[in-house]
Amino acid sequence: MTEKISKEDIRLIADGVDHCLQFAMQQTLYTPLETLAATMKRTHTCGALTDKDIDNNATLQGWVHARRDHGGVIFIDLRDRYGLTQVAFNPKHSESTYKIAEELRREFVIEVEGTVRHRPDGLENPKLATGKIEVFAEKLIILNRADTPPMEVDDRIEINEDHRLAYRYIDLRKPGMQANLIIRHRVAKLVRDYFDSNKFLEIETPILCKSTPEGARDYLVPSRVHAGKFFALPQSPQLFKQLLMVAGFDRYCQIVRCFRDEDLRADRQPEFTQIDIEMSFINEEDIYHTMEGLMQAIWKEVKGVDITTPFLRVPYDEAMDAYGSDKPDTRFGLKLIDVFDIARESDFKVFTGVLESGGSVKCINAKGCAKFSRKEIDELIALSQTYGAKGLAWIKIRETGMESSIVKFLSEELQKRLREATAAQEGDLLLFVADRKRHLVNTVLGQLRLELAKRLKLIDGSKWNFLWVTDFPLVEYDENEQRHLAIHHPFTSPKDADLPLLDTDPAKARAKAYDMVLNGVELGGGSIRIHKSDVQQKIFSLLGIGEEEARAKFGFLLEAFRYGAPPHGGIAFGFDRLMALLTGNESIREVIAFPKTKSAESLMDKSPSTVDDRQLKELHIKLDVVRKKE
Ligand code: AMO
Ligand code: AMP
Repeated sequence: MTEKISKEDIRLIADGVDHCLQFAMQQTLYTPLETLAATMKRTHTCGALTDKDIDNNATLQGWVHARRDHGGVIFIDLRDRYGLTQVAFNPKHSESTYKIAEELRREFVIEVEGTVRHRPDGLENPKLATGKIEVFAEKLIILNRADTPPMEVDDRIEINEDHRLAYRYIDLRKPGMQANLIIRHRVAKLVRDYFDSNKFLEIETPILCKSTPEGARDYLVPSRVHAGKFFALPQSPQLFKQLLMVAGFDRYCQIVRCFRDEDLRADRQPEFTQIDIEMSFINEEDIYHTMEGLMQAIWKEVKGVDITTPFLRVPYDEAMDAYGSDKPDTRFGLKLIDVFDIARESDFKVFTGVLESGGSVKCINAKGCAKFSRKEIDELIALSQTYGAKGLAWIKIRETGMESSIVKFLSEELQKRLREATAAQEGDLLLFVADRKRHLVNTVLGQLRLELAKRLKLIDGSKWNFLWVTDFPLVEYDENEQRHLAIHHPFTSPKDADLPLLDTDPAKARAKAYDMVLNGVELGGGSIRIHKSDVQQKIFSLLGIGEEEARAKFGFLLEAFRYGAPPHGGIAFGFDRLMALLTGNESIREVIAFPKTKSAESLMDKSPSTVDDRQLKELHIKLDVVRKKE
């Protein structure tokens, strides 16, 4: 049976391997198989045998990863989730076993019994944990044959993602995908341990519930028993975790699935997982402290990195002004510069016109980019337009002076002031956006900033820039809907000092809301909640939610607040996003076993799918679509 492998062994095996993978391997290596089942036939996993096992007998089970025939001997790489072991079949040793081995093909599932031997000199593979040995086979049983697999089990081969998702069970055999999910399991455990040791309780909340207002569309589930009525799948357990505080549980955590019918991107899935937290008798500082501690623990364990706390705090207005984003990536500069004073005195009608109507003119100094071609600049203009800019003015700084179609609108003196304000030097490119809407100017330049950083390779991949964005506005005015909308959700408390603004200038009121941002990704967001019925009522009316609507939608919460609700607050983290960042993946689909495509379907089980008429009838549903033949 497998001996427990020492820490030193792990260090040796994992030498040269990323710390993140070492972290994944620990669980794998420390678990001797006999702890799982006493009668197991396997004596070892495919990652366990080393030169300490030479001359011992071993029985392995796994998948045929690769097969090589050399000078009358067949070599198999046998694979399971723990690693690869080379198995040799020599006809001189066992003719009958060799004969069966001739049948072996990729992905056959087999059982091999044999003796552990040193590999011949020069044939050792230092990259493999088992690279010093091979199993000299005496017995072979084919447990199951496999058709030629529709894809290679090889991380190095790039495969179309739709194909990978259609055959996800094979895609998941790849060591890279296995590592992602093993690390995910380990982090989930670490998260639970962290909260457990801080007196949090994990309490499950319903999946069939009433719609919660997180701002996306709901997935609905029709009720058979109550004709015409629907459950919604929770966009988050928001209301339930608040009710748990009313119930006196004090500290709640849950690793929980959430469902949102929204436009998908690389970092969004229709069902995703949150690390969800709520605490009573606390303020923002307690949330910051608790969550920073969790990040510290995760980064230390998984990446071997010491994260410095407390994290930087950036008020929302400052984030938008300097970075053009409420999730600023601070790993590089290229900050936005307000050129109000200079633009106002220029003769450029676009600038002066915008400023007269209360708008904004800002720019970025793209260092060293005066060399950009017309085509490259046109691409930047096109990018700005996709974010709503009406144009993108530019100035190249040459040895001879400024070069641009708008220089003629700037006096010598203004040009000098502009160079000072932007610290522009020869070879730089200044990019300007002007618009009546200040938010649009910031957003467009914020996107340009990210694009330029990528093109100029300004991003240091080894940095972990955590920060809190604080002081979010409470509401924003939606011109289409002609009413105020909650920025976070309607249960977020206004700042005490800003309460009077609710009556006079609600858009100026700040919320007790915060987001944790890492390297430009919003990892989590939360708030201190309103716990008093009268303040809640006021916010509802500000949001245009009438008394009746409020009662119909959240009556149970308002009712609960009448029976002694403690002050409380919380936060939720995107677990998938956290895992993608930890494992260095751009897309959260790489850290989810069975994700949906960008068009919210599963290519493997072909869901969503039609259901038969009997089911629809039971659910009292008549379809208003013409059914295509499947
Ligand atoms: P929020 O809506 O900000 O807050 O969500 C919290 C975090 O969840 C992640 N996230 C997603 N991840 C993948 N796919 C999605 N479609 C998706 N949507 C959100 C993000 C986000 O930061 N109930 C509140 C939290 C609270 O106030 O305590 C909430 O859900 O990382
Ligand atoms: P025009 O006078 O419209 O030809 O514009 C001259 C330059 O100003 C062009 O480079 C336009 O892209 C740019 N421009 C036009 N509108 C804006 C705007 N709102 N913000 C920044 N640049 C603009």
